[in-house]
Amino acid sequence: MKICIINGQNHRGSTYHIGRMLADKLADAGDITEFFLPRDFGEFCCGCTNCFMKSAEKCPHYEKLSPITRAVDEADLLILTSPVYVYHCTGAMKAWLDHYGWRWIVHRPEEKMFSKRGVVISTAAGAGMRPTNKDMADSLSFWGVPKIYKLGYGVHATSWSEISPKMRAKIERGVSAVAKKLEKDDLAPRVSIKGRLFFTVFHFANKKGWNPADGEYWREKGWTEDVRPWKK
Ligand SMILES: Cc1cc2nc3c(=O)[nH]c(=O)nc-3n(C[C@H](O)[C@H](O)[C@H](O)COP(=O)(O)O)c2cc1C
Repeated sequence: MKICIINGQNHRGSTYHIGRMLADKLADAGDITEFFLPRDFGEFCCGCTNCFMKSAEKCPHYEKLSPITRAVDEADLLILTSPVYVYHCTGAMKAWLDHYGWRWIVHRPEEKMFSKRGVVISTAAGAGMRPTNKDMADSLSFWGVPKIYKLGYGVHATSWSEISPKMRAKIERGVSAVAKKLEKDDLAPRVSIKGRLFFTVFHFANKKGWNPADGEYWREKGWTEDVRPWKK
């Protein structure tokens, strides 16, 4: 299994360690690619809308983003991690996710997403894991990823070394449970109910013609007809 981990922080703290613990249970080190934000990508979307209206290559940050996009596309499993910062994901994670708005199902989803799986991971001192995981899971889900697992821990600590043995044992159990489910998964192309709903709406919208760049993409894929990016 090829795994791509996107860390919404530069440091190897509690959240990073949980993501890495999961990846290490599922793959050899050679099959795990890690990125750290903003170290590996720290640009903000400038709102030019070139990606939506023209093409992703017209994004001013296209070249800088490409190595991460390639790794994301090649991976079977995507792990997104973020510490909770004021009840949400880090600004670096959000800024990175903003750059893939054009890949949402309602625009030009990448076909490979329908056969990937995702895990979102967050830690907080106390609370905020649910909205933080939602920040990341929303994008994975709207990219087309059919199954997304969520792991959130209120670790009562500001670093990995401060976490109590009891909490570490709880984390270990949660991570192992998700790893077991992923090991059993055949990674066949699938679609979630939400994905199918949005895809159907935009099947008709693109058939009628709304955004020319999206319509052309959907027609090329055959999605305005009977072809679907998952097993029917
Ligand atoms: C800017 C900032 C904002 C934070 N906001 C919250 C918060 O809203 N709720 C909370 O419980 N902890 C909050 N924390 C604490 C971290 O989420 C927590 O210590 C987390 O486990 C750190 O993960 P890390 O070791 O991966 O960096 C915040 C920390 C920082 C630096």
